[in-house]
Amino acid sequence: MKIAVLPGDGIGPEIVSQAVKVMDVLSREGMKIELEYGDIGGAGYDAAGDPYPAITSRLAKEADAVLLGAVGGYRYDSLPRPMRPEQGLLRIRKELNLFANLRPAMLYPELAGSSSLRPEVVSGLDIMILRELTGDIYFGQPKGLRKNDDGEREGYDTMLYSESEIARIAHVAFKTAMKRKKRLCSVDKANVLETSVLWREVVTAIARDYPEVELSHMYVDNAAMQLVRNPKQFDVIVTGNMFGDILSDEASMLTGSIGMLPSASLDSQGKGLFEPIHGSAPDIAGQNVANPLATILSVAMMMRHTFDDEATAQRIEDAVRKALFEGFRTPDIHQEGMKRVGTKEMGDAVAARL
Ligand code: NAD
Ligand code: IPM
Ligand code: MN
Repeated sequence: MKIAVLPGDGIGPEIVSQAVKVMDVLSREGMKIELEYGDIGGAGYDAAGDPYPAITSRLAKEADAVLLGAVGGYRYDSLPRPMRPEQGLLRIRKELNLFANLRPAMLYPELAGSSSLRPEVVSGLDIMILRELTGDIYFGQPKGLRKNDDGEREGYDTMLYSESEIARIAHVAFKTAMKRKKRLCSVDKANVLETSVLWREVVTAIARDYPEVELSHMYVDNAAMQLVRNPKQFDVIVTGNMFGDILSDEASMLTGSIGMLPSASLDSQGKGLFEPIHGSAPDIAGQNVANPLATILSVAMMMRHTFDDEATAQRIEDAVRKALFEGFRTPDIHQEGMKRVGTKEMGDAVAARL
């Protein structure tokens, strides 16, 4: 297994080190894992003047899978757009054609009390958010800044989806639902946006290929509300790039912390990039307090989706569960009576239980 490891910025290097501890355990057992490190985001800009250096691009293309920490930092926020860390992330997703982003919001029973919602609202929560990742207003052209006729500056972006882009994510969504509770909710804003009218039409047409899946549609504003009102009504949610970005951060809090949510970004062959859904958390970087579990759980997703190794994926998830069961908690999920630990200690706890 050739894995490109791109720690990135902020807490990226700290949390990725913990995921590497987990892979080291697997290596010592005889699994053939080869790690190659590269720079991305602000780290790429510092090393090579580019948030997605050519050498990193080569590394990512040659690897079987990519493990990424996070990108971004205050220092880079005033750079011209193409040099900003976030562009590195968008470019690697686009270049590798990683259109299907799986963001599972699953509550570990031990964390029911860490959620900002009452335990009975979230206990048993298990939602798969499928976010389209290479289209929408993120990539639609034209976009830019211009002066209008009054000489005033205006900014503009283009929300855009082609039928084929919608169809391919819809197929992944229906197939995902088939492996779960067979309920799919497609989230859009078809009451206002033409992009969403097309989205809804294409998803509805594809539903005929999957008669066993119960398809529903929901407007995004309602979906945001339903996620905190009664989140357990959802099984699989499929939505566009921007709505998925927002709803997945919202859903993460149901599970106790944004530091708990892993993700897999896959191409049509299942090859992909694995990263926590959160950012570089510059406010807590370098303090050994970030929760590394989302990154560790991203390795489990890598084993499952790229290497087709369900047993190892489950072993990693079980090790996380054990560490939580035994009371290990980083500050973001800490509650009275539990063992408050740092990033490194949490990594050690999971590795030991693996
Ligand atoms: P963020 O996700 O980095 O942080 C939001 C809040 O959650 C912060 O208070 C942070 O401390 C906390 N948090 C995040 N991850 C945590 C973890 N593992 N453990 C404990 N607490 C955690 O979002 P932001 O502050 O809006 O953005 C910071 C930077 O990250 C920006 O530059 C942004 O563009 C970038 N970003 C990158 C990614 C990515 O690389 N995939 C995702 C989101 C944001
Ligand atoms: C995410 C992040 C990224 C996104 C940013 C950093 C480009 O928020 O992975 O959720 O918006 O996709
Ligand atoms: Mn996001």
